[in-house]
Amino acid sequence: MSPSFSLTLLPGDGIGPEIMAVAVDVLTAVGQRLDLRFKFQSALIGGAAIEATGSPLPATTLEICRASDAVLLAAIGGYQWDQLPRSQRPETGLLALRAGLGLFANLRPATILPQLIDASSLKREVVEGVDIMVVRELTGGIYFGTPRGIFTTEDGQQRAINTMAYTPGEIDRIGRVAFQIAQKRRQQLCSVDKANVLEVSQLWRDRLTALAPNYPDVSLSHLYVDNAAMQLIRYPRQFDTLVTSNLFGDILSDAAAMLTGSIGMLPSASLGSSGPGVYEPVHGSAPDIAGQDQANPLAQVLSAAMMLRYGLDQPAAADLIEQAVTKVLDQGYRTGDIMSAGMTQVGCQAMGAALLSAIDSINIT
Ligand code: IPM
Ligand code: MG
Repeated sequence: MSPSFSLTLLPGDGIGPEIMAVAVDVLTAVGQRLDLRFKFQSALIGGAAIEATGSPLPATTLEICRASDAVLLAAIGGYQWDQLPRSQRPETGLLALRAGLGLFANLRPATILPQLIDASSLKREVVEGVDIMVVRELTGGIYFGTPRGIFTTEDGQQRAINTMAYTPGEIDRIGRVAFQIAQKRRQQLCSVDKANVLEVSQLWRDRLTALAPNYPDVSLSHLYVDNAAMQLIRYPRQFDTLVTSNLFGDILSDAAAMLTGSIGMLPSASLGSSGPGVYEPVHGSAPDIAGQDQANPLAQVLSAAMMLRYGLDQPAAADLIEQAVTKVLDQGYRTGDIMSAGMTQVGCQAMGAALLSAIDSINIT
């Protein structure tokens, strides 16, 4: 019998539904070619969930996710929900999903495809050959630390507080994931912190250093986050695997993404120690182009490939998707965000159609 997987789809907001539709078609086509069966179930998250239920992450969504083999998420958020109280904002739904599924490890690869070098805002000689994996801690640090809130002090002044906190256990588990990923890559791990100022970073650095002897094949280095931001733009090829805390990872992964030309190309995987992972593009919901058939579906499709590789252990299917993406780019198809001279500009649906023909035509060895 062909292997069968139950997948939860969280299309979310903005361009989410459009790019998700492409990913579903791609998965179905790959399933047909490689004899895999996917059972899709959609659930609500973000603004779409707020409209339907009042909550950005309804309890049923979390249950459906927990019961599935993997979760494919598109994007959440939009201007119309920006003024709501924090507990009802789309972003809160995403954070609750990460916490609820225990997804402490966020993998964000930034690989420059040769076809897209000219789409980068940096010079060809700077970005050529860039292949970085950002490993971001996702369920701790300042995003989740307490106390947090806006308080009024005794003298009537407002005071806003967030807390950046890590325990040794939280640091060690993300550290181990990062070392293991570095082992499978070019064996260089750079840990990013702010240990010259923050105690939480001092502990981070000490724990990473203490883990290193367990991975003698990996060389560990440390950078302060300000320097890391500069080095990413100055000489990105020096990096193989980066590991960092939740907030620093949020910022550095956007910078790393832009090296590759468009944040519209980059997938991500969020993994826990057990249970389903969540696979989603690094980009957001792009409400300005939603519903106009202009979105780039490739990050969503590449997220489906990461899901097959890291979550469902189907490397051949992941390869097929990645080859199809390479092929459509070789054929010159570009959405607006990655358009350059001499290429053929297409919309989201036409990019999807091109991917389907590519999947049908690739030889499977
Ligand atoms: C990301 C996003 C989220 C984050 C937002 C939408 C809460 O920027 O996934 O990088 O800050 O983690
Ligand atoms: Mg971000």
